[in-house]
Amino acid sequence: MSIVPKLVQSFSDTASSETAVPNDLEACWLPFTANRQFKRAPRLLQAAEGMYYRTTDGQRVLDGSAGLWAVNAGHCRREIVEAVQRQVAELDYATAFQMSHPKTFLLASRLRELLPGDMDHVFFTNSGSESVDTALKIALAYHQACGDTERTVLVGRHRGYHGVGFGGLSVGGIAANQRQFPNLLTAVDHLPDTHLPELNAFSRGQPEHGAERADGLLEIIERHGADRIAAVIVEPVAGSTGVLVPPVGYLERLRAHCDDHGILLIFDEVICGFGRLGATFAAERFGVQPDLMTMAKGLTNATVPMGAVGVRKPIHDALMTGPENMIELFHGYTYSGHPLACAAALATLDLYRDEQIFERAATSAIAFEAAAHTLDSLEHVVDVRNLGFMAGVELRPRAEDPGERAREVFLRCYEAGVLVRYTGDVIAVSPPLIISGSEIEHLFATLRSAIEATD
Ligand SMILES: Cc1ncc(COP(=O)(O)O)c(C=O)c1O
Repeated sequence: MSIVPKLVQSFSDTASSETAVPNDLEACWLPFTANRQFKRAPRLLQAAEGMYYRTTDGQRVLDGSAGLWAVNAGHCRREIVEAVQRQVAELDYATAFQMSHPKTFLLASRLRELLPGDMDHVFFTNSGSESVDTALKIALAYHQACGDTERTVLVGRHRGYHGVGFGGLSVGGIAANQRQFPNLLTAVDHLPDTHLPELNAFSRGQPEHGAERADGLLEIIERHGADRIAAVIVEPVAGSTGVLVPPVGYLERLRAHCDDHGILLIFDEVICGFGRLGATFAAERFGVQPDLMTMAKGLTNATVPMGAVGVRKPIHDALMTGPENMIELFHGYTYSGHPLACAAALATLDLYRDEQIFERAATSAIAFEAAAHTLDSLEHVVDVRNLGFMAGVELRPRAEDPGERAREVFLRCYEAGVLVRYTGDVIAVSPPLIISGSEIEHLFATLRSAIEATD
């Protein structure tokens, strides 16, 4: 049993809070966490506002990771909070199958205005993982509807992260995530990753070398036959594996190979979407049109869980056939298009537009890049890479204990009041897009001190 220290009431220390700090952490099994270690020295967040968290023991923490790459407009934005409060008082839940509610349609129409090209339909989910599995299923169903019944192989990429559903895990390429689960999808293959440190280390923005890594798809086509491959899914910028920015020309080449062979291209924009790259979506940032696109996280500014899949018109239309009284896609979730999530998303999109958050992010990303690369020359730093408001600072792993150096840096930053993430030996930095110039400097200065203090 772990005892958590003192109770702090709320962000301001003065407003009241109904949340008592627990003194027994045992029953809760935390996700992607070293539970036993965590419970010996827990880190609990009590309140948040703008760029900052406040912990249960009263420490103010600059959020250098936007929660989990999600709180793009900053925390507890009044407009979103009030929209959710109004919604929950009016309609808490609406039956989601053969019924709906107005805001689902309003939100889909708003998203359609933002989605690239002829991507004009939206299917709602509750998370990134559900969005990925939904996109993969739509891809499979599309080929079945077209009579291409042999197109069943799904292609991901080494080091890709597509959530934790069986589909997303199978196309994902992070071995540690798969090791414990020896019964994943089998009609799956993986492109090589795009990480070429010997050629691209310390790149600013898109690295120069590696577009030809997209030709890995040609080998996969040779192995399986082009007419057996349903879809390729990639994160435009791979996030969770430690920020891998696509080389110049890579995504274009992947798109061309998919086009040549009738393969659908899915962009997993769960992290990249909603301004993280200084554009609405990575598709726009790179000028490459995907066939399907997954979204989550920044869609509601993480205020309420929600995901979505954007679908191009021909794919949607191919499934809208048969008798009109027939369900077209045997798929969906109890909480697809939940009223609270829709209210949060509509308010979030308003905020992004009214405060021109994506445009401002594009401008302030220049300072972010410069600050990130002030770490280039530090001992133990073997690479710094970045695009938009994503940066990865890779540390040399300790031979006897890989990952431990980054964990120590993470803890030092946290103790100094800055929250970053670490994955393996990469420190990932991805703050809310509203971060100020002085906060950018403070974030990287704290990270620098933490790296310097770590042997
Ligand atoms: C690219 C990508 N896809 C999918 C997911 C899974 O999202 P969730 O954790 O909401 O299921 C994530 C989560 O970080 C992600 O980064």
